[in-house]
Amino acid sequence: MMEQFSSLKNRPAFKFFFFGLFLLGFLLFFGLIGALQYLVPGLFKDYMSFEKSRPLHVTAAVFWIIFSAVGTVYTYLEQRKPDRIFSLKLMNIQFYIMSIAVIVILITYFFGIFGGREYWEFHPVLAVPVGIGWVLFITNVVKSVGTIKKQPVYVWMWLTGAVFFLFTFLESYLWLIPYFRSGIVGDMTVQWKSYGSMVGCWNMLIYGSSIYLMDKISGNDRYSYSKIGFLIYFLGLFNLMFNWGHHIYTLPAPKYVQYISYGVSMTELLLLGRIIMLWRSSLTTAKKNYHLYSYRFLLAADVWILLNLILAIMMSVPAINVYTHGTHITVAHAMGTTIGINSFLLLSFIFDAFGIKEKISARRFTFAYLTVNISLLIFWVALIVAGILKADWQMHQPEKPFAEMMSMLRPAFIVFFAAGAGLAVGFLIIVYKIVKHYRP
Ligand code: HEM
Repeated sequence: MMEQFSSLKNRPAFKFFFFGLFLLGFLLFFGLIGALQYLVPGLFKDYMSFEKSRPLHVTAAVFWIIFSAVGTVYTYLEQRKPDRIFSLKLMNIQFYIMSIAVIVILITYFFGIFGGREYWEFHPVLAVPVGIGWVLFITNVVKSVGTIKKQPVYVWMWLTGAVFFLFTFLESYLWLIPYFRSGIVGDMTVQWKSYGSMVGCWNMLIYGSSIYLMDKISGNDRYSYSKIGFLIYFLGLFNLMFNWGHHIYTLPAPKYVQYISYGVSMTELLLLGRIIMLWRSSLTTAKKNYHLYSYRFLLAADVWILLNLILAIMMSVPAINVYTHGTHITVAHAMGTTIGINSFLLLSFIFDAFGIKEKISARRFTFAYLTVNISLLIFWVALIVAGILKADWQMHQPEKPFAEMMSMLRPAFIVFFAAGAGLAVGFLIIVYKIVKHYRP
């Protein structure tokens, strides 16, 4: 084990993966605590209340995605053209600044120190090292890419994701300036818009990497220079800039903003159509590559993209959004996408980067893989059911007391917890196998 870790000196990109995997284990633990607290309200109230377990879980989840996405972009940049990483030293500095910041953030949560908002609940001072780390990332990526001439679509996606992330990250802190804080509607609009766009940015890093990987597995670069690849890039960019509209339906913003954003969200249908086509053609190659663990996670992500898009598009319909807002359907959407799409794709990249496909027994892998996928489906459906019950209460039975509504949701929460435990076990087996079988 020591030998494995000391080898990371020469491979700073992999440090991001290992730290990401640590965060994955961490977030699973606090997710389970949070789910238990749904079942037993007030559990561990004195030292680990839901107000602490939730941000510990969610912040670790966000940084698991960010660290692994950064590790992937660096790894693939290096694979494309060895010696083309601008500076390993800068990469190391970025890693230490950001990982120390994350550890401090998690520690402050344990002590009940907050001061931020939603996904960034930590004290705003701690956003400074995260932002500095990101500037180093942009510098390293831009310098490593060199020229923008004749670049494949995934390089465009990496550049866009990296640059826009900084922009939206800064935007999510505009509330610190009194001018933006003074009007509640404006304040919330900027806030929710920035979160929507931020997700769009890390998706650019991750989807770009998946295009790189798909081409790598199929042994050609047809897709990364194709017209349709670039079309999807522009559609993604468009959505990154404007799809946030459905985040603000419930705010009294002008109606035209809502209609435009609804229309923009619908452009995602185009993406859906394209994905279904891709999926059909990928089925024919499925057999050939089925032994590749990274390929299997790509396949799983494909199915989850479909399921989540159907849910997201339904949620974008204003008449439905009025119902789903503030219910567990939103949580199903957030976790369905960050687990089924983001986490599965990231694991796919890690399997590919570490090249450990043959070392893990196929039976064990398949067991963990099926456990994760089946549990996630049950987990996701349980949240949607809880959300529908709550929406019905909000709209049709407001006279029923809150406590009575919560007890109505209890069976869904029991299933949610049990499936969550299955999900955690499946993921932990995979993480354990990856760490155990990693060889420099
Ligand atoms: C890779 C695995 C996971 C990821 C990436 C993930 C991600 C997230 C995210 C992004 C949220 C915020 C949702 C929102 O703001 O609407 C969230 C909330 C939550 N997650 Fe997870 N999650 C994971 C696994 C789990 C597991 C295994 C459990 C345990 C059963 C769990 C339980 C929860 C709970 C209880 C919440 C709080 C929801 C609320 O505020 O009511 N998560 N998770």
